[in-house]
Amino acid sequence: MKKISFTEKTFNFFKNFQCNFYKKIVIFEEVSSTNTKAKELASNNEVEGTIVISKKQLEGRGRNNRVWQSPEGGLYLSIILRPTVNTKVTLIPLLGALSIVKTLDSMKLNSSIKWPNDVRIKNKKVSGVLIESESTGEKLEYIILGIGVNLKSDILDFPKEILNKTTSIENEIHNNTDYYEFLEELLMNINEYYIQFKNRKYEFILNQWRKNSDTIGKNVKIKTKDDEIFGEVLDIDSSGYLIIKTESGSIRTITSGDCQYLEEI
Ligand code: BTN
Repeated sequence: MKKISFTEKTFNFFKNFQCNFYKKIVIFEEVSSTNTKAKELASNNEVEGTIVISKKQLEGRGRNNRVWQSPEGGLYLSIILRPTVNTKVTLIPLLGALSIVKTLDSMKLNSSIKWPNDVRIKNKKVSGVLIESESTGEKLEYIILGIGVNLKSDILDFPKEILNKTTSIENEIHNNTDYYEFLEELLMNINEYYIQFKNRKYEFILNQWRKNSDTIGKNVKIKTKDDEIFGEVLDIDSSGYLIIKTESGSIRTITSGDCQYLEEI
């Protein structure tokens, strides 16, 4: 029997997938990085709602210039967004993480978000979000929402240094998951949260994040580009930035960085 390729299966899935937001789908058997491709397309004026999806990535990228392991079995996609307000776009990564958590919820899988947008099951990372954007002067041209999910990935394909902090969905449920059911649910959730964003329901997004994260209240070590900060997490602010009370008692707002829970070091 002829084996159907990923491209063909994915093409068929999108033929039957009805959600007006997604305007164009670009499918790869393999690609350097779906984010890189999406950026190229966005620079060539491709519309909001364009999806780039690949069976695997050869140079998958994570936050802070890290590699995102992208073997077959994972889900790798990037979506072009062109929000018309350029305030509050720092909430877009939160919206990505929330969409993943909600998708996992629908599979009865409990997960939580570690700031800024790592999605974890039993403290092991299962998914991540990479946001890249381009502006001309004040004008935001586009945002790429890149999402990677270790869905059916065999965790033994991952380097052993990250095995104790990484998992995949199938590794957690010890059962088969349907790639396309997951994809459908995820894309619907992204669309719904993005509608909330466009309707300026920022507090809703922030509160959902607070509810689904385990970061608030934790003692943390934050590594920024040029600093290491220790403290207790008090909250996130209206931009999604982390507010911490440092060891010396001062309050600091962290806009980006790596967050580690002290209890896990
Ligand atoms: C992270 O947690 O460090 C973010 C990981 C984001 C990975 C996704 S996979 C699809 C898209 N293409 C990439 O190269 N990276 C993102």
